[in-house]
Amino acid sequence: MFLGLDIGTSAIKAVLVDDAQTVIATAETPLAISRPQPGFSEQSPEEWWEATLASIDRLKAENPQALAAVRGVGLSGQMHGAVLLDKNGDVLRPAILWNDGRASAECRELEERFPDLHAVAGNLAFPGFTAPKLLWVRKHEPDIFARTAKVLLPKAYVGYRLTGEMVEEMSDASGTLWLDVGKRDWSDAALAATYMDRSFMPRLVEGSAAAGKITSDLAARWGMATPPVLAGGAGDNAAGAIGLGAIHANDAFVSLGTSGVLWATTDRYAPNPRSSVHAFCHAIPATWHQMGVILSAASALGWWSGATKVAPGELLAPLGEAPDAPSRSIFLPYLSGERTPHNDTAIRAAFIGLDHDASREAMTQAVLEGVAFAFKDCLDALAAAGTKLTEADVIGGGSRSRFWIAVLASVLGLPLHRVEDGERGGAFGAARLARMAATGESPAAICLPPRRIETIAPDPILQAAYAERHALYRALYPALKGVTP
Ligand code: XUL
Repeated sequence: MFLGLDIGTSAIKAVLVDDAQTVIATAETPLAISRPQPGFSEQSPEEWWEATLASIDRLKAENPQALAAVRGVGLSGQMHGAVLLDKNGDVLRPAILWNDGRASAECRELEERFPDLHAVAGNLAFPGFTAPKLLWVRKHEPDIFARTAKVLLPKAYVGYRLTGEMVEEMSDASGTLWLDVGKRDWSDAALAATYMDRSFMPRLVEGSAAAGKITSDLAARWGMATPPVLAGGAGDNAAGAIGLGAIHANDAFVSLGTSGVLWATTDRYAPNPRSSVHAFCHAIPATWHQMGVILSAASALGWWSGATKVAPGELLAPLGEAPDAPSRSIFLPYLSGERTPHNDTAIRAAFIGLDHDASREAMTQAVLEGVAFAFKDCLDALAAAGTKLTEADVIGGGSRSRFWIAVLASVLGLPLHRVEDGERGGAFGAARLARMAATGESPAAICLPPRRIETIAPDPILQAAYAERHALYRALYPALKGVTP
């Protein structure tokens, strides 16, 4: 039996997976985000820990024997967040999250202080990433910076509470800008650029390797006779990839979650920061990946649902299974700025081209298409980084909508596969990493792909119509950039 824990932004999710890789129980505890100023996004690490305990305690109450039989625990985590600890391991301030935009000026400062950053870290400096946040804290909260002894990512903090040890793995560490992504080791020069050194960083392991053991107190609380192994785990997207079996070069998926990700596994370190593509380590040895990240995917539909006060299912129902033609209006989904390809925290969303006939249905379709166009920008960015995709799986909450997948297939010009349990998320991949760490089984033996339920091919007529629309969409960002309020 293996336990996967996803330290997400909206919830902590725990799943119990048996030796036949069947999910036998899940428990979820919701989390809130605090936005103390516009563009800020924070959470309390103590709340992650309490929600983790609550989720596992619930599994114990409902499945005591299964939980007692757990041999390995794995973590998947929201990436990039900065948890600052003092020399006693106590939290110094709320964690600054992946979707926090405060550190724009510090990105430029970091790139000036470390001109080789792009080559070493494989990425542009994005405000959501960890290193610029520490420059912000040094500037705006110097007393906190002075007391900071360790910086952990969200899941490493939960791992620390589970084992007493501070350990990080390669996929999540790649999103800090302190990792030499090609060498899979901390970069002394990148750390020095933020007035830090290796002593601020946790020990590094591979995601599928053992990071420590659950403390005997917690093991006793959950009825486990032998404390299970904790695996290094993975950033949430890498964990999703492990869950999908995306471990071979060119395996690809589209994740329609809160944020959106276009992922491609690579067998080498393949950076192309100019196109705002992320080049990160995978959570298994000697494997990397590229991804384009958009900040609002399913959350764009969530926003539209909130604005119209109509549930997402009701908004989607009148659209049917696939579009006949593009919507007449265009939506730019930049509700919290954009990462790939613009790296712009200030840009905001817009509807363009509304007329008297602009119905709620047409605007809903435009929202879904706008997210698909943003993914097309990611596809083009990956192509510029040398990765040409031929097909992809679709996962995440948005993958429940067949209409949305049909739009995406025609916008991207790729056959897209709906898979069984496509909403399983990172926790299942984390349980697989736990198994590899506990048993030494190989990634190829464990990371089998899920069953494909349906393949949705691009429609040639729609594909041509969407290619024209995407050209218009591309022209709108530079125009909007100058006039965003
Ligand atoms: C990836 C990213 C998001 C978060 C969401 O770079 O920022 O996917 O990991 O949890």
